[in-house]
Amino acid sequence: MPFHQTPPVPDNFLDQVEAVARAGADAIMPFWRTLEPHQISEKSRNDLVTAADHAAESAILAEINRRFPAHAVLAEESGWTRRDDELPTWIVDPLDGTTNFVHGIPQFAVSVGVAVANRVEFGVILDPIKNDLFCARRGMGATWNGAPCRVTSRDGLAGALVATGFPFKAHELLDPYLEIFREVFLRCKAIRRPGAAALDLAYTACGLFDGFFEFRLSPWDLAAGSLLVEEAGGIVSDMDGGGAFMTTGNLLCGSPGVHSELLEVVEPRRHRWQHPDIGGPQP
Ligand code: IPD
Ligand code: CA
Ligand code: CA
Repeated sequence: MPFHQTPPVPDNFLDQVEAVARAGADAIMPFWRTLEPHQISEKSRNDLVTAADHAAESAILAEINRRFPAHAVLAEESGWTRRDDELPTWIVDPLDGTTNFVHGIPQFAVSVGVAVANRVEFGVILDPIKNDLFCARRGMGATWNGAPCRVTSRDGLAGALVATGFPFKAHELLDPYLEIFREVFLRCKAIRRPGAAALDLAYTACGLFDGFFEFRLSPWDLAAGSLLVEEAGGIVSDMDGGGAFMTTGNLLCGSPGVHSELLEVVEPRRHRWQHPDIGGPQP
């Protein structure tokens, strides 16, 4: 049944999502700049996980189970719990920006989205270092520390500050990525690679960045943040302009004008990453 007819969650649900994210942040902070080498491991080459990621995820799962024992969960480190499209589904990145965290760089966050009927309806991103809280509920707008936030009004890449992430887990995408990077770089004011996709999206939602693009993100990187950008008046799409970014992980977003020019840069190069020799989702 569509969510707007019969809300399957309580009225204060967004507050509860925030409380769940806070439980994760509280579990992370004891590890901040105190991680020991034995608390850090590689899931795959250059893809780190730490005791902080695991502690945050355990705290978040415990909090979801205590509050909503029947809900489904997709969490980065433990995968699915109660997978069922009919259930509200929590999509959890317990620590986005693990590499920054390991190196003591204060740019990381907890990201929690909740999908109902396969569409993200609630999103919270919490940066415990800067005490920045970003919240969104579909149809109700987005907030940054309680105040409504909007994407910038920039109408194109000229003068834009754009964020990106490198395809460090998909080296086969490096050449097409660098082609796109080059063209965006030549058109915009500056590019940043802060290292936490959830915050890149949150910063785009509140107008700190004019736009953001990255290949091969995971659902937990972008569930909450993509809703924030949409609710802040921005446009989020797959690299071909469609809506499949949650499954392909290829995402570009920004103010309507910046999104449209990013798409203009990316689209003619589609064949470069949709080539059958390049792995990953194909059209
Ligand atoms: C990563 C960060 C990074 C992005 C990667 C993500 P993690 O998440 O968001 O900015 O470039 O694609 O995997 O591993 O730190 O949760
Ligand atoms: Ca992440
Ligand atoms: Ca993570």
